[in-house]
Amino acid sequence: MARPLDVERLERAVKSVYRDVAEAPNEEYHFEMGRPLAERLGYPAGVLDRVPARATESFAGVGYHFDLPDLREGDDVLDLGSGSGTDAFVAALRVGDSGSVTGLDMTDRQIANARKLRDEAGLDNVSFERGYIEDAPFEDGAFDVVLSNGVINLSPDKERVFGEANRVLAPGGRLAVSDIISEKLMPESIKNSEDLWAACIGGAEQIDRYTALIEAAGFEVAEVRDNAQYEFVSESAANACQKYGVKSISLGARK
Ligand SMILES: C[S@@+](CC[C@H](N)C(=O)[O-])C[C@H]1O[C@@H](n2cnc3c(N)ncnc32)[C@H](O)[C@@H]1O
Repeated sequence: MARPLDVERLERAVKSVYRDVAEAPNEEYHFEMGRPLAERLGYPAGVLDRVPARATESFAGVGYHFDLPDLREGDDVLDLGSGSGTDAFVAALRVGDSGSVTGLDMTDRQIANARKLRDEAGLDNVSFERGYIEDAPFEDGAFDVVLSNGVINLSPDKERVFGEANRVLAPGGRLAVSDIISEKLMPESIKNSEDLWAACIGGAEQIDRYTALIEAAGFEVAEVRDNAQYEFVSESAANACQKYGVKSISLGARK
């Protein structure tokens, strides 16, 4: 019988990968990283020029979704799984001094790096909190927009993540995520491998289930699109892509 997913081992595996990403962005990983990836996904070069270079170096997102939530001056934004902080810094440029951006991440080293870059850049409207996206340490209705890029596939409890995203949004709040999903259901042998989860494959939810979870949490999904520019680099990942239609999407929704 297939061994069930060990959630604690999974958390250790994911933290270990993203600690390495924060410490050594130029090593080889299962996934592509950095500014060339961000530009290919659609981040305008002129915007990236205004973001700390050490943040974009460790960028590990899977799509560009800043057109989906219609970010406005004064918005309060939460980025789930903020990593090196690229998306938080991009959002800060849009919301201005009258708005705020909060990044939430469970990996100490990611939070420490992002805070350092925030301090160096003197961005007073950006903050980074250590914590879990399944148990977001914020009040109900605290944000206008929730973002997340390449993260929710890593969570073993996506129902809770979308529930938390809905809870912390004010009525009418907007959700914009880029994430890895699969077209077909994947076998337990893949879904129960902590290593394949940490490589952003094992936890990829089948797309109809993924959108059903978002709707069940209280959102209306407005748009789902493929990010054909995103490619996996490792062989195991490329095989899963072919066999199960594992791919990147961006999705916009409203509470
Ligand atoms: C693929 S990286 C993406 C980082 C960032 N969004 C970006 O675009 O560069 C995934 C990030 O999510 C964080 N993460 C994964 N699972 C998490 C969870 N359950 N709670 C909080 N953070 C999590 C990891 O620590 C890592 O920094």
